[in-house]
Amino acid sequence: MPSHSPELDGPKSFTLPWIATVVMIVVFLIGLLFFPPLYDDPKGEVSTMVLFIGRFHPILLHLPVGILGALCLFELICSTRRGEARYGDASLVMLICGTAGALFAMFAGIMLSREGGYVGGNFTLHQTMAIIGTAGVLLALVVRIVGMSRESSELLNAYRALFFISFGIMGLGAHFGGNLSHGSKFLVQYAPEPIKSQMISMEKWMLSFVEKPKSNDEPEVTPEPKVEPQVAATPVTPPVAGTPGPAPTPAPGPTPSPAPGGDEKLVFQHVILPILTAKCNKCHCEEKSKGDLRMDTYELAIKGGENGSNFVAGKPDDSLSIQRILLPDSDDEHMPPDGKDQLTKEETELLKWWVQQGASNTVKVSEAQIPEGLKAAVEGILKG
Ligand code: HEC
Repeated sequence: MPSHSPELDGPKSFTLPWIATVVMIVVFLIGLLFFPPLYDDPKGEVSTMVLFIGRFHPILLHLPVGILGALCLFELICSTRRGEARYGDASLVMLICGTAGALFAMFAGIMLSREGGYVGGNFTLHQTMAIIGTAGVLLALVVRIVGMSRESSELLNAYRALFFISFGIMGLGAHFGGNLSHGSKFLVQYAPEPIKSQMISMEKWMLSFVEKPKSNDEPEVTPEPKVEPQVAATPVTPPVAGTPGPAPTPAPGPTPSPAPGGDEKLVFQHVILPILTAKCNKCHCEEKSKGDLRMDTYELAIKGGENGSNFVAGKPDDSLSIQRILLPDSDDEHMPPDGKDQLTKEETELLKWWVQQGASNTVKVSEAQIPEGLKAAVEGILKG
C-alpha cells in the first residue's frame, strides 16, 4: 500500500535540482577542457590567479569529505522505503552540495598541481581517482533525480550503489593525496603489525599500476669525464670511502658559515649546496619538502627524507639522491622530475665526487682533490 505523506500533494518538481546538476556537468566538462589533468609539470607560464586558487585545495577538500561522508549515513537510512520518503529530499540537497564541493576541490587541486613538482605514483593515483570519483558522484546525482522523479526504487538502489562506489574511489584517491603532503608512511606508521603489512601491500599493489618498474639496469647518462675516486691529499678529512653511515666527519654545528679569508671556501657550502639550491631545493626546502626531504642544510641533506640514505659517505651508488639523479629522465622517480631544470653532467659528477670523497661538510675547496675535468665547473660555481 503506497502511503503518500500528507504534505506532498501533487507531483514533486525537480527543476531546481536538474538546473544545479546540468550546471555542474557543464562546469565539470568545460573545466576539464581548460584545466586538463596533467601528469607532468606544466609547460609555460601559469597565471598567479590559478596558483592562488590552487592553494585553497587543502581547505576545500573538506567540503565533499564532510558532506558526502554524512550522506553515506543518510543513504543507509534512505535505503528503506520510509527512510527515502522522509529523508530523500534532504539527501538530494546534501548530494548536490557535496558534488559541488567535490567539483571545487577537484579543480582547485588541478590548479595546485600547476605549481609543478607533482609527479609520481601517489600523485597519479590521487588525481585520477579524484576525477573518476567526482564524475561518479555527478552521475549518481543524475540517477538519483531520475529515480526520485519516477519513484523507482530500482533506480534509487542503483544510485546508492554508484554513490558508495564513487565515494569509495574518491576516499581512496584522497588517501594518496594525503601521502603527497604527509609522506607515504603517515597513515601506517603506528598501525598494529598485521594491519600495517596489509595496508602497505595494498598500497604497493595499487601504486604498481601507475609506477613503472625500476629500471636500474638502464644505461646511465654517460658519466664523462669519468671521475675516479680520488684521495684527498691533505689529511684534514681523510677519504672515507667504505665508511658506512652518514656524516663521517662530525660536523661542528650546523652548516658552517664561510670561513674567514676569501680563499677558505668549503666544498659543501660553496660548491655542492649551490647546486642543490638551484636544482633541487625548490621542492626540498622548508616550505616544500617533497618526499619529506630537505636539503637546505648539510644535516638535513645527509639525514634524507622518507627513505633516508640520501648521501651515504663514500658510496654514491647507495645514495638515494644520486641514484635518482641517474635514473633515466622518463622514470617517475628521476630527479629533478622530468620537465624541471636538470643537472648538468658536471653538476652530477660533482655530487658523485663529493659523496665518494666522504660527503664532508668541512673539506675546503683549496684542499680538495678536484678532478681535472671538474675544475672549470667548480670555478664557475664559486664565481656564482
Ligand atoms: C619540481 C620539484 C622537485 C625538484 C626540483 C626535485 N625534486 Fe626530489 N622529489 C620531488 C617529489 C614530488 C618527491 C616525492 C615523490 C617521489 O618520491 O618521487 C621527491 C623525492 C625525492 C627523493 C626521495 C626522498 C625519499 O627519501 O623518499 C630524493 C632522494 C630526491 N627527491 C632528490 C632530489 C634531488 C637530488 C633533486 C635535485 C637534483 C631533486 N630531488 C629535485 C620533487 C622534486
